[in-house]
Amino acid sequence: MQVLRTVAEVRALVARARNAGRIVGLVPTMGALHEGHQSLIRRAAAECDLVVVSVFVNPTQFGPQEDFDRYPRNVERDAELAAEAGADAVFAPGVGEMYPEGYQTYVTVERVTAGLCGAHRPGHFRGVATVVLKLFNICRPHRAYFGEKDFQQLVVIRRLVSDLNVDLEVVGCETVREPDGLALSSRNQYLTDEERRVAPLIYRALRRAAEGLRSGQLFHFSPEQIVRGALGREPRMKVEYVEFVDPVALEPKDPCQLPVVIAVAVHLGQTRLIDHVIIEGREDA
Ligand code: PAF
Repeated sequence: MQVLRTVAEVRALVARARNAGRIVGLVPTMGALHEGHQSLIRRAAAECDLVVVSVFVNPTQFGPQEDFDRYPRNVERDAELAAEAGADAVFAPGVGEMYPEGYQTYVTVERVTAGLCGAHRPGHFRGVATVVLKLFNICRPHRAYFGEKDFQQLVVIRRLVSDLNVDLEVVGCETVREPDGLALSSRNQYLTDEERRVAPLIYRALRRAAEGLRSGQLFHFSPEQIVRGALGREPRMKVEYVEFVDPVALEPKDPCQLPVVIAVAVHLGQTRLIDHVIIEGREDA
């Protein structure tokens, strides 16, 4: 396993692979790798000849009050986990390598970043779009792998690739969950034991609303009341948003008009968790 620190090193590795006709896969991460990342790496390794995993805690996607400083960092451990899942190289640049002195160029994706997390984390998707486009230009992958767990991020990246004619395929991969339903996230390690115990309520609430919408049996309660009601019973949870949106445009939508995504963001103690479900159609349709 090679851990590369500079843009020049990655460019040289990728150029050799591409010149030899090999397919290059990129798995962009911020490190603190877990089974969710490993499932992306395994998929990339099954579909590509050279798999590069980037590990970079990107400062431009964190707000001033967010967890940039305490975000877990352990490149050696990440390199082991990446290798175990089939990666060939880890690209772990320092902040100065990605944003050198004088840096001043940013990418803004417009409408799909207006709602959901974009409305609550100003500048977040500008930072994501910027670093992802930089990683694409540095690593020149044929395919790039992202988790569906960060649903809005995936829509933003697909939009960016399409709008700016970036020559690669974006591969979205299914959310990996704990047996109790909690979506895997590097931020889960911030949770106390007690918070971890109640965290699966989020997905349970989403599933209950989704089942109601699929079966058309919500009775007296709207889907939003169902989600807010379930989460509101847990005093440690503060709901940031519950929204019903179109899966492509991400614009607010009547939840009875399928397909629809139910997306939530919740603060559980000091930790912000997001999750979603997609409801494609009704069971009786
Ligand atoms: O999903 C993440 O870990 C990050 O947002 C990404 C895509 C690696 C960009 O920093």
